[in-house]
Amino acid sequence: MPTAVSLFTGCGGSDAGLVKAGFDVLMANDVLPYARDVYLANHPDTDYHLGDVSKIKSFPSAELLVGCYPCQGFSQGGARDADRNINFLYLEFLRALRQIGPKAFIVENVSGMRRSTYKHLLDDQIAKFSTAGKYGYSVKAELLNAQDFGVPQERKRILIVGIRNDLRAEYHFPTPTHGEGRKRLVTIEDTLTGMPDWPMGEFCEDPFHWYYLSRNRRRDWNETAKTIVSHMRHMPLHPISPSLRRIHTDKWEFESDGPARRFSYREAARLQGFGKRFKFPDSEASSLAMRYRVVGNAVPPPLFRAVAQALPDVWG
Ligand SMILES: C[S@@+](CC[C@H](N)C(=O)[O-])C[C@H]1O[C@@H](n2cnc3c(N)ncnc32)[C@H](O)[C@@H]1O
Repeated sequence: MPTAVSLFTGCGGSDAGLVKAGFDVLMANDVLPYARDVYLANHPDTDYHLGDVSKIKSFPSAELLVGCYPCQGFSQGGARDADRNINFLYLEFLRALRQIGPKAFIVENVSGMRRSTYKHLLDDQIAKFSTAGKYGYSVKAELLNAQDFGVPQERKRILIVGIRNDLRAEYHFPTPTHGEGRKRLVTIEDTLTGMPDWPMGEFCEDPFHWYYLSRNRRRDWNETAKTIVSHMRHMPLHPISPSLRRIHTDKWEFESDGPARRFSYREAARLQGFGKRFKFPDSEASSLAMRYRVVGNAVPPPLFRAVAQALPDVWG
C-alpha cells in the first residue's frame, strides 16, 4: 500500500477518498478539535496531530503528500483579501513538500483562486512546487466539478497535482464519469431518499435573513445540490421546502407558507459523497455549527478518490 501524509486534513473528506484509492494515511493534521474527533472515529489508525501546522517540526516520510489549505481568502463566501495571512498557508505545505520529498502530491482548493486578484498566488504555488526538493515536480492544475464524478452536488474546485521529475511519469486528470453523454448525474433524491424529513436537532433553524434570501438557495429533488458550504446559516434548502421566486435583483421569497428548512449536517455529508456509515461522534467540541463546518470544509471523497486513482503507478 502506498503511504500518504495529509495536511489541513479536517474531518477527512480527502482522506476517505485516499483510503478508497488504496493509500495508507500515516499522519494527519488540523487545528480543529472536532475535525480530529470525527476523523479518528472513522479512521482510528492514523496518527492525527491536533494543532497549527507551522508548529510541526518534522513530517514522516511518505510517497504521497496531500493538503487542502484553507480558502476563506479565495472563496466567494469568505472575506476576499488576497493579502490575508491565511492565504499563505501554502508555504507550510511547501515546507512539508521540501522536507518529505514525496513521489507525488495533490492539493485541492476553491475555484476562486483562478480569479485575477488571486492568480498571482496560484501562479506562485505552481512555481514554488515545480522547483521544490532535489528534483522538482511536474505540476498540473485543473478545475473539476464534483458532480461529474458521481457526487450529488455542484462543486467546482481546483486540483493541483505534482509528480516528482526523476520518476519521468505524467499525470492525466481523470475524465468525468457522469453528466451529458455519460452516466446520469446523481441527484438529491438518489442520495437522501429514506432519510427522515424533519431530523430535529440536526439542521440549523436560524431565520432566513435578507442575505440568505438574496439568491435562490433551493434545488429540486431531481437535481444535484447547490454547493455545500461550511457556515450553517448559508446551507442550501432541502427540497422539502417551498420553491423560491425572484422578486427583485437580489431578493427572493418563498412561493408558499409551507415549512422550509436547510439541509441537516448529515444530509450535507451525504451530498458531499460521504458514505452512509460515516460517523459524527458526540464530543466536547461537537456543536451543531461545528458538525456543519467540518462537513462543509471537506473535499468530496469520490472526487479525491478519482484524482488519486489517476496517479501513475510510481509506487513500486
Ligand atoms: C479546506 S479545509 C480541509 C478539508 C479536508 N481536506 C477534508 O477533506 O475534510 C482546510 C482546513 O485547514 C485547517 N487549518 C487552518 N489553518 C490551519 C493551521 N494553521 N494548521 C493546521 N490546519 C489549519 C482548517 O481547520 C480546515 O479544516
